[in-house]
Amino acid sequence: LAQQPLAPTAWLAGAPPAAERPHASHKGSYGDIAVVGGAPGMTGAALLAASAALHAGAGRVFVGLLDGGTLSVDTSQPELMFRPVEALELSAMTVVCGCGGGDAICAQLPRILSAAAAVVIDADAINVIANDTKLQTLLTERSQRGAATVLTPHPLEAARLLGTSAAQVQADRLAACGQLAERYHCTVVLKGSGTLMAAPGQTSVINPTGNARLATAGTGDVLAGLIGARLAGGLDAFEAACQAVYQHGLAADRWPPGRALTAGALSRLLLH
Ligand code: APR
Ligand code: MG
Repeated sequence: LAQQPLAPTAWLAGAPPAAERPHASHKGSYGDIAVVGGAPGMTGAALLAASAALHAGAGRVFVGLLDGGTLSVDTSQPELMFRPVEALELSAMTVVCGCGGGDAICAQLPRILSAAAAVVIDADAINVIANDTKLQTLLTERSQRGAATVLTPHPLEAARLLGTSAAQVQADRLAACGQLAERYHCTVVLKGSGTLMAAPGQTSVINPTGNARLATAGTGDVLAGLIGARLAGGLDAFEAACQAVYQHGLAADRWPPGRALTAGALSRLLLH
């Protein structure tokens, strides 16, 4: 196996063919995404989410880094367009935010939650919301106007949102995920072995794909970008989350045994 060239299409040979795109379509048909994230030392997380969005078929992917704006291009992914966060016009965009950030993401979240057409909130952005009732009100208002919102906590992030411990969340994951969806009025993806999706008014779903090869840094960022691409493509929040989590797990299930899966390789296996 070590001698064989890496051939993602062969690994995915059993996958159903991706649906052909309508001929009379253009990049605007597949949506704009802004990835807002990448605190100092976490730039790679934002780039992984952006890469996943690109490979999952988003029309255009912009990146607003929270590290003071030192990067203007990623030469290994020249498709990505870097912008100062404040210059991103968010109203028609799906925004994926997280990937560290601290004070910098705190400053951006009010505008993102007020303006963005659809949002995926991951990682440290979840922790910020857990501690800020004004942001929680903005989530309620998003739900009242029918704007798509997806939160993607791992068990510790979910525990912070619920004011409990990760052990308590893990003791009844289904209940925890459902409580989060009701409390924050949005679609919630509770990550980990047996990822769950819940949303107000929906029957919760347990994802059947995925395995412990995903237990490596950055795979959560890839999932956030993939959900963003599905939202940008026009799916509603719950459907986008369910499809993305399934596809993310399926890509890991099709990875050849004995080779470590990296988050970057996972992003390149995604289908539009
Ligand atoms: N089985 C199935 N899926 C798994 C398994 C497993 N055993 N282990 C991990 N996964 C999946 C999760 O469901 C999720 O989709 O891998 C992904 C891991 O996501 P995260 O837990 O967010 O991990 P990561 O992407 O490495 O995030 C790193 O994000 O939340 C912050 O503080 C965190 O700095 C850290 C950063
Ligand atoms: Mg994470």
